[in-house]
Amino acid sequence: MDKVRFGVLGTNFITDWVIAGARQDSRFELTAVCSRTKERAAEFALKHHIPYQFTYLEEMVRSPLIDAVYIATPNFRHADQSILCMSHGKHVLCEKPLASNAKEAEAMIAASKKYNVTLMEAMKPTLMPSFKAVIANIGRAGTIRRYFSSYCQYSSRYDAFKEGKVANAFNPACSNGAIMDIGVYTIYPMIVLFGMPQRITASGIILSSGTDGQGTATFLYNDMEATVLYSKIANSYLPTEIQGEDGIISINRINQIERVYYTPRFQNIAGGKGIQPPTKDWTRTADRDEYYYEIAEFIDLVLAGKRESSINSHQNSLGTLKVIDEIRKQIGVVFPADKI
Ligand SMILES: NC(=O)c1ccc[n+]([C@@H]2O[C@H](COP(=O)([O-])OP(=O)(O)OC[C@H]3O[C@@H](n4cnc5c(N)ncnc54)[C@H](OP(=O)(O)O)[C@@H]3O)[C@@H](O)[C@H]2O)c1
Repeated sequence: MDKVRFGVLGTNFITDWVIAGARQDSRFELTAVCSRTKERAAEFALKHHIPYQFTYLEEMVRSPLIDAVYIATPNFRHADQSILCMSHGKHVLCEKPLASNAKEAEAMIAASKKYNVTLMEAMKPTLMPSFKAVIANIGRAGTIRRYFSSYCQYSSRYDAFKEGKVANAFNPACSNGAIMDIGVYTIYPMIVLFGMPQRITASGIILSSGTDGQGTATFLYNDMEATVLYSKIANSYLPTEIQGEDGIISINRINQIERVYYTPRFQNIAGGKGIQPPTKDWTRTADRDEYYYEIAEFIDLVLAGKRESSINSHQNSLGTLKVIDEIRKQIGVVFPADKI
């Protein structure tokens, strides 16, 4: 096998974007689309030149025409749909966050093992070249004392929300809201770089629908602290910073890591004055579409017969959801999926 034949599930704009990136990988073959309605499946198939259309996932996963499914449905469907796909031997690339909660993620990971198929969360930024530069060079910053990350983006669906129309993005029944949609981008890289925190303290603003609109969480590790800010109801241009004893790593945008700079600490010289060594550019230019990298990683894994990525690993996806579960517990956000 030198190509992976994909079926895609869910036909919103994110599937358009992922397909555009995926088509830069010659090993990606787009074979089928599954949508809840025949009309939408036909429309999407025409737009992307997809040969096969389905309206039931059960039918698509039984088809020998596909090897893998890319799942881009609301969060509350990720677990049951992924497990269905895996139980039919299909590899799964599932949108972020991997599931509604850690319990669902554990069931998905168990299914990946049981059916011996690849399962990976489509968490894009941690697979981008510049984040790999952070992983490779973080030791140069010395002992890390603080991770700070901010991702605040006024949602295009918030104006409608204020007029009483609750889109899936603000619906707890879809396991959605700010921590799930936006905050996850600030937390996932923290888990990849530093593992699980020892203590979590969270606050948030809860909207009338029952999801959070924004939040702040602080984390205590053995010898460092972390703070993340996220919002769907206000904007921010704050970058992400990793502060070490020997220098600062600055990341332009945590959801789309393109530029990374390293500023070494002031060095003392004779006479008590300091000199500022020049800031170094650690950016690794992404010469392909930003979504190409997650697809390439996933295809590498499938073709190598590996169940999980070393960066977007099962452990990192599960750890992220454990952290999110605790934040939701502290701020009082409960999903129907938590009670199943
Ligand atoms: N990686 C990124 O950059 C990025 C960006 C945006 C979103 N996302 C993730 O992508 C996923 C989808 O987000 P979204 O905002 O596109 O969600 P959405 O608009 O609520 O739903 C996505 C698609 O899922 C199907 N769908 C809608 N409601 C459903 C339901 N109740 N049950 C089953 N299927 C349903 C629809 O496709 P059909 O009508 O064809 O069935 C819809 O187009 C989420 O996990 C989100 O976190 C990722």
